[in-house]
Amino acid sequence: MKSEFPAPRIRWILESGEVDARYTVRGWVRTRRGSKNVHFVALNDGSTPAALQVVVPAELPGLEELLPQIATGASLEVDGLLVESPGSGQRVELRAEAVRVLGAADPETYPLQKKGHSFEFLRSIAHLRPRSNSFGAVFRIRSTLAQATHRFFGDRGFNYIQTPIITASDCEGAGAMFEVHTRDPEPFFGRPAMLTVSGQLNAEALAYGLGLVYTFGPTFRAENSNTSRHLSEFWMIEPEMAFHDIHDDMDLAEAYLKALLDAVFERNAADLELLQRFVEPTLIETLSNTRDNVFERITYTEAIEILERSGRAFEFPVSWGADLQSEHERFLTETHFKKPVMVTGYPKGIKAFYMFQNDDDRTVAALDVLVPRIGEIIGGSQREHRLDRLTARLLADGMQLEDYEWYLDLHRYGAVPHAGFGLGFERAVMFCTGMANIRDVIPFPRAPGQAAF
Ligand code: 4AD
Ligand code: MG
Repeated sequence: MKSEFPAPRIRWILESGEVDARYTVRGWVRTRRGSKNVHFVALNDGSTPAALQVVVPAELPGLEELLPQIATGASLEVDGLLVESPGSGQRVELRAEAVRVLGAADPETYPLQKKGHSFEFLRSIAHLRPRSNSFGAVFRIRSTLAQATHRFFGDRGFNYIQTPIITASDCEGAGAMFEVHTRDPEPFFGRPAMLTVSGQLNAEALAYGLGLVYTFGPTFRAENSNTSRHLSEFWMIEPEMAFHDIHDDMDLAEAYLKALLDAVFERNAADLELLQRFVEPTLIETLSNTRDNVFERITYTEAIEILERSGRAFEFPVSWGADLQSEHERFLTETHFKKPVMVTGYPKGIKAFYMFQNDDDRTVAALDVLVPRIGEIIGGSQREHRLDRLTARLLADGMQLEDYEWYLDLHRYGAVPHAGFGLGFERAVMFCTGMANIRDVIPFPRAPGQAAF
């Protein structure tokens, strides 16, 4: 079915456009080549990685004047007749009957002339890189993942809620927060205020009324870690379920990740092929393997045993009580199990105050989901809903009870077992696109020393 609005885009025309029908297409020139008699323009409009071949006969009225402007990067509107393509590797091509240049692009200065620019260079022109093949594919997949997220949770009765961006509580207790100020020395909010690191605590309050909720919002961390997996501003999806425990949390995490992959396979086949060809040769295999396998479920203690027995010389030593580093996570998921791994039962000393305390008195019902190439993609837990345990833990961590008064109050009335997690959205986009640097899966990355655009 051809939609009336917006006008048909190139993806639709390539797949379903009717031969011998007339269409008007708009897009940007990827390349132009030709001879005396005929010119071939590869036109792309961002709907798919492929370009539509536009055949421009030399005798087209006014062409002589237009031709210098039909250059890489220029935007065109073309009316034409769709015909079978004699051999360009595409089903159809458009025989131009009228060409209008909407916006010229000076070939002397347009930076995206050639194919094969490095991702580092493209990062320095983040305002233009959405027009490149790889970034088109990445941002289309990013959109699919966002829309599939809302479908997944919506279909299961989760309520989409919004939690504050400006907050006074440090959810993760890690102290890596940006403060919010005006130029005025008086605190605007009457107390110190920060950009949130997670919407979880507020989401718990909503789960205690609505049962099932999720957030999808920006989060901020002032960690000074310049890694390929950390941003200062990133997006997180945080479901929270009242009346559910750590096992339900694992079931939800696995079903959600698989639903994301299903959506990408369904909607972005051409994008996946492009990224597999030019970015990550194991991409499709890794994603299919993730979609088709039951995730491994192990405890932290079992993970430590596996790592110790592995005989590997890790950069960071392995010992019970120390956090898993990315090299350990990747060994578990890529080398040992060769599929995603869900790890629970972490030592309480390395996890946040809100996690449910297990009976052994030394572990908490934390959940980290590890996937190949990325390591941790999801962090979550069952929450500590027992007020006495929660209070004791806050005090043991040296936190000020008055800072968490409302959160404690929440568990004073009608507390129930509840659980949730946070999916790092950019890590999910990295996983689904094969991109190796997290700065290349968000349109305008913010990282230490970097807030351009
Ligand atoms: O493991 P984290 O810190 O968990 C939380 O914030 C919980 N409050 C979530 C919850 O239970 N509702 O972060 C969750 C995920 C990580 O697994 C990782 O994928 C991602 O967020 N993440 C980052 N992504 C990009 N840049 C950073 N600096 C990130 N820090 C965490
Ligand atoms: Mg974590």
